[in-house]
Amino acid sequence: MTNVRPDSMARINTPELAQQFIEEQVAEVRKQVGDKKVLLALSGGVDSSVVAALLIKAIGKQLVCVHVNHGLMRKGESEQVIEVFQNQLDANLIYIDATDRFLDLLAGVSEPESKRKIIGGEFIKVFDEEARKLEGISFLAQGTIYPDILESDGVKAHHNVGGLPEDMQFELVEPVRLLFKDEVRVVGKALGLPASMVDRQPFPGPGLGVRCLGAITRDRLNALREADAILREEFEKAGLNKTVWQYFISVPDMKSVGVKDSKRYMGWPAIIRAVNTTDAMSATIEEIPYALLHHITNRITTEVEGINRVLYDLTPKPVGTIEWE
Ligand code: XMP
Repeated sequence: MTNVRPDSMARINTPELAQQFIEEQVAEVRKQVGDKKVLLALSGGVDSSVVAALLIKAIGKQLVCVHVNHGLMRKGESEQVIEVFQNQLDANLIYIDATDRFLDLLAGVSEPESKRKIIGGEFIKVFDEEARKLEGISFLAQGTIYPDILESDGVKAHHNVGGLPEDMQFELVEPVRLLFKDEVRVVGKALGLPASMVDRQPFPGPGLGVRCLGAITRDRLNALREADAILREEFEKAGLNKTVWQYFISVPDMKSVGVKDSKRYMGWPAIIRAVNTTDAMSATIEEIPYALLHHITNRITTEVEGINRVLYDLTPKPVGTIEWE
């Protein structure tokens, strides 16, 4: 199995080329795996979702998907994983709601790298515990894509959640390892995955844990999740999901005074970030129509408990980063 993309390999940019790729990979996976079982950590992100759909096509119930909900997913994400993979594709899916484990460990931890380490470490622990309960697993599938191979030592580690226990001695199945992201999306569509899954914007592995600044509390995390869902809904309605590369809400751990029903009360600000970029190394700010910003502000401050201001971040990268962390 090669980890080098041959010069002769065509860019997969049509449904026909995607179908051809799928047929080749289905045959290759069947040959590699035989009648053995394969385990996959399914986050619901583009890469792991496409690998899951491809393997379901190739080996059906021999694939065991484990979805760990770390409690830091965006609104509706875990539900979509269950709907698409369990209900629609009839996958062998184990769903683990580990929200309490993660949030208990994160309580009081404010330093960003410490938060990332806790989330990454706990993810490995939860996945490892599940994997050890299963019998007869011989292979581990991973959503490694070509940039992961070019940028690291070939293991999907970068700074994402999804790193796996080092002592797991499984042979790897990595059917999209020679593809670039845009090709993975074309293949995902050809496999029938919903656009909302295949065209997802980038989302940090540690999820909303990055955007809930400082020490995470459940009430502020919920406020962030609800405000983010409103932003996404309104951007989609306005068609901005097609023109803006990444947009989200961050909520800092500070309160300021506001007024509601003629009473002063303390609330958090929700910060809107909406950027365009080609490589995430630099980013520009999108000009969002004022009327839409007003509407989103109105919805968030009236519908989301605990938020009393909405701010729009105008800082390009550099000097800011895309995420607030
Ligand atoms: P920054 O904040 O460094 O982000 O300008 C650049 C891009 O990387 C995304 N990002 C992540 N992606 N796992 C990921 O897969 C992560 O842990 C992670 N942290 C940041 C960020 O959303 C932006 O698109």
